[in-house]
Amino acid sequence: MTTSSSERGISLGMPELPAPDYPDDVRARLERDAHEIIERYPDSRSALLPMLHLVQSEEGHVTRTGMRFCADMLDLTTAEVTAVATFYTMYRRRPSGDYQVGVCTNTLCAVMGGDAIFSALQEHLGVGNGETTDDGKVTLEHIECNAACDFAPVVMVNWEFFDNQTPESARSLVDDLRAGRQVEPTRGAPLCTFKETARMLAGFADEREGAVDASGGAGPASLVGLRLSRGETPTARVVHPRDGGPHDEPRPGSVHEPSPAEHLGSHDAPQDTSASDPAHPAGPVTEEGE
Ligand code: FES
Repeated sequence: MTTSSSERGISLGMPELPAPDYPDDVRARLERDAHEIIERYPDSRSALLPMLHLVQSEEGHVTRTGMRFCADMLDLTTAEVTAVATFYTMYRRRPSGDYQVGVCTNTLCAVMGGDAIFSALQEHLGVGNGETTDDGKVTLEHIECNAACDFAPVVMVNWEFFDNQTPESARSLVDDLRAGRQVEPTRGAPLCTFKETARMLAGFADEREGAVDASGGAGPASLVGLRLSRGETPTARVVHPRDGGPHDEPRPGSVHEPSPAEHLGSHDAPQDTSASDPAHPAGPVTEEGE
């Protein structure tokens, strides 16, 4: 997530007004979800980031009501919550569209056509950076590099990738979104609305049918992290020779770690990496056949 000085400035300049309450039924439901989130952390204040996604999933942006709810649940001041909510651009401070269309205009995407795509969408949609179409469907914005430079120029809709875009394909994409036609991201999970995305970012599962299968699952490194968080001992990082030669044996008591060939996530590059384990050092690079 990146910071937005303009959002920080707007927020810090706002007078402090009393926040309205959630309706009782909404608050009760959010409290149940909040307790589930808080239980994941040894220190409740660590739950603030997913909590902000939770309240964003309720109203489509982080309201003063949402920030006060987070403060109440986490025993923080509203100033502490506001400081975090206004620091990260993934938290919206004003109502926005169902689909956040982010055009990467960082260096590589910009020179590969990102700037042209952004200009084309501005003209096509009649909105500027951070603005939403009159039908409430699309919010257009510049985004920074999302580490998908090999697929430049990249457009993201609610943080799902649309690779190798052109002004024409981007115009077609937003037209489909506004017309309610199904669009397929290049990679990752099926597209959902901004509110649904916020709920997943709060740590709740994507319960749509087929969504998990379509996402490609987590890659090997993420699975190692998951096992470590459970107190399990993953296998040593294994170098997988390209010629299919012998692999290291797992340590006694360790769990099986799928090789890249066994389990490639949707974001994994299909190539091996060298080990950083001193017990299994990567050898010097040699000419093939040496
Ligand atoms: S510059 Fe656009 S994804 Fe890296």
